Amino acid sequence: ADSRFIDDLLARMTLEEKAGQLTLMPSAWGGSLAAQLNPPGNGQNFDAQIADAVAGKLTGVFNGNGAVMAQRMQAAVMKHSRLKIPLIFAADIIHGHRTIFPIPVGEAASFEPTLAERTARAAAFEAAGAGIDWTFAPMVDIARDQRWGRVMEGAGEDVLTGEIFAAARTRGFQGTDLKRDDAMLACAKHFAAYGAVEAGLDYNSVDISMRTLREVYLPPFRAAIDAGAETIMASFNDINGVPSHANHWLLTDLLRDEWKFPGMVVSDYTGDEELIAHGVAKDGKDAARLAIMAGVDMSMASDLYMLHMPDLVREGTVPQSVVDASVRRVLAVKAMVGLFDDPFRRIDPERERKRSMLPATLALARESGRKSIVMLKNDGDLLPLPKSAKVALIGPFASGQHDLIGGWCVYGSDKQAVDLATGMRNAGGNITVVEGSGITDAIEGGVDAAVAAAKAADVVVLSIGESENMSGEAQSRTRIIVPEAQQALAEAIAKTGKPLVVVLRSGRALALHGAVRDAPAILVTWFLGTESGNAIADIVYGAQSPAGRLPMSWPYRTGQEPYYYDHKSTGRPQPPGPRLPYKAQYREVPNSAPFPFGHGLTYGKPEYSDISVGSGTLPWNGTIEISAKITNAGKRAIEEVVQLYVHDKVATITPPVRELKGFHKIALEPGGSKTVKFTLTRAQLEYIGLDNKPTVEPGEFIVWIAPSAQDEGVTSSFVLSQ
Ligand code: IFM
Repeated sequence: ADSRFIDDLLARMTLEEKAGQLTLMPSAWGGSLAAQLNPPGNGQNFDAQIADAVAGKLTGVFNGNGAVMAQRMQAAVMKHSRLKIPLIFAADIIHGHRTIFPIPVGEAASFEPTLAERTARAAAFEAAGAGIDWTFAPMVDIARDQRWGRVMEGAGEDVLTGEIFAAARTRGFQGTDLKRDDAMLACAKHFAAYGAVEAGLDYNSVDISMRTLREVYLPPFRAAIDAGAETIMASFNDINGVPSHANHWLLTDLLRDEWKFPGMVVSDYTGDEELIAHGVAKDGKDAARLAIMAGVDMSMASDLYMLHMPDLVREGTVPQSVVDASVRRVLAVKAMVGLFDDPFRRIDPERERKRSMLPATLALARESGRKSIVMLKNDGDLLPLPKSAKVALIGPFASGQHDLIGGWCVYGSDKQAVDLATGMRNAGGNITVVEGSGITDAIEGGVDAAVAAAKAADVVVLSIGESENMSGEAQSRTRIIVPEAQQALAEAIAKTGKPLVVVLRSGRALALHGAVRDAPAILVTWFLGTESGNAIADIVYGAQSPAGRLPMSWPYRTGQEPYYYDHKSTGRPQPPGPRLPYKAQYREVPNSAPFPFGHGLTYGKPEYSDISVGSGTLPWNGTIEISAKITNAGKRAIEEVVQLYVHDKVATITPPVRELKGFHKIALEPGGSKTVKFTLTRAQLEYIGLDNKPTVEPGEFIVWIAPSAQDEGVTSSFVLSQ
């Protein structure tokens, strides 16, 4: 019925109305952060934007919308426009709407995809309740260079984790029925290889082999699509000289012909127009032609499609059928989210208010916050702290309504979030707060006051790291370090000799050094969202044992980047033991990570034993069961993320030293043990062969069941037999 309805509608549309359906603009509704960010060129006032919508020049608007605004705009369109095609309202709901959950890379540290699905569901409940039909999430870019600021938006460096979280988040946003008023369309972004920008510089070029593209960067998109993602956003970068917005191979040959993606492709913000700066389009008209011919259905934030598409079709430069196909896809997603049945389905200011920041949603934010925390070190079991301990809480992130929720929160606010001091006080802690130093510049006298407070305390909790605006879009760094003013503060505090707990805030992996790396206890707390302080206090005072694991390697130095655990061996790997010359190793640091992918400690003592690999043979078309026993020899209940890694001993293409093939998160009481089982099939061992197609050869594979990518855990081997 939808398809006949759409054909009928299409037949009645003018070329201008078709171009309008392909044009998405930032909301001109004032007041929101996003609306303020709109460049002047798009800054029509709201009434003018309504007039455009009524004239059929817009398919919808994004960011800055809410139910009141959407109601006014939709009502005008449904009443006064010629064809009465409902607008679609979109927004960057990346890690929450009003209630903010941990930044996505932090949440990936939970290694709990069902948690990501639940937080995406909760975000959809709030956002769809506020009139939003479509989110520009999940961001599924694999990120292996921590200099890149957008590391914070994805699921880290690993392909399997990336796939699993891409699917979970897609399911969460879309729910089981896209027409419901608590579901929104997901948009897997940024297609493709955006995380591979050279030198971690945002928007930079990507030069990449077809094998790496298919093996590393594309699978999470495939996973999101398989989980039902109906829209894809093109990426700003070029790949091997072709910008994604003009890449016919990527957006049509691969996405449509090979993957059979039926949904809709949207440009990134002015991504079509940027084809001019990339140097592949001579002007706006040429850029619009290249983008639509490559497969960009909808243009975001530029008016190029609106301005040029009708002429391009009339001149015969762009076939009418290409435009029609794009319009059909746009109308199909509008139908999918129920807009033709009821254009006001998600628009209800009263419901927006009623759904905002409910106790259950806040409880979920706290749960996801504490599950995202990774304990890097805990020498001498310094943590958890007894509530009676006299704590000097020091650092620029110790208190205050700032730097709590992280980037990409269009509708969230630090003002509504719980800071660390409040969280620790809520938990009954005995704390004295001193800022001690600024984020990037030292505060006069601040270090002295901090040192004095440290001397008077039993223990110091030092809250340092990156501020919110140091990661995210266009926030690449050449040195992924704790800012120098804060490092100096840490050095001064360490000299007091007081036990030191470092509570790090960051949107990427940091290269730690000096007093920060030497601190006996280190917690990675990313940006945890609305319940930030309460979630950290849950861990600091031991209401919960930390269970998060690093979703990316934390290197010794920035100069190791891009660094990832599943690197190749090289012909000259450095063997364990004394440093040998003429091996693949830096002068200054080992070729490894001090805190590897998968690493994270708990308050218990997990021990790995008794690995078993079934009969030792994986039949070509069969399965093999690999298991190990995990025992908690500690005195506290824990959750352990048990990881299965595999290494192909001999293959035509140099194999990675290890690859994650599965993980299970298990709960263990003190003294408790469980046998954790993984099942492998041949398909899970495949790599991209010389012909750029998946392949695998028979032979021997090493397996580890281990607590991190660099830990030996327990190891064995099996044979894949043909
Ligand atoms: O969704 C984002 C994208 O990730 C980066 N450019 C702007 C878009 C819309 O806000």
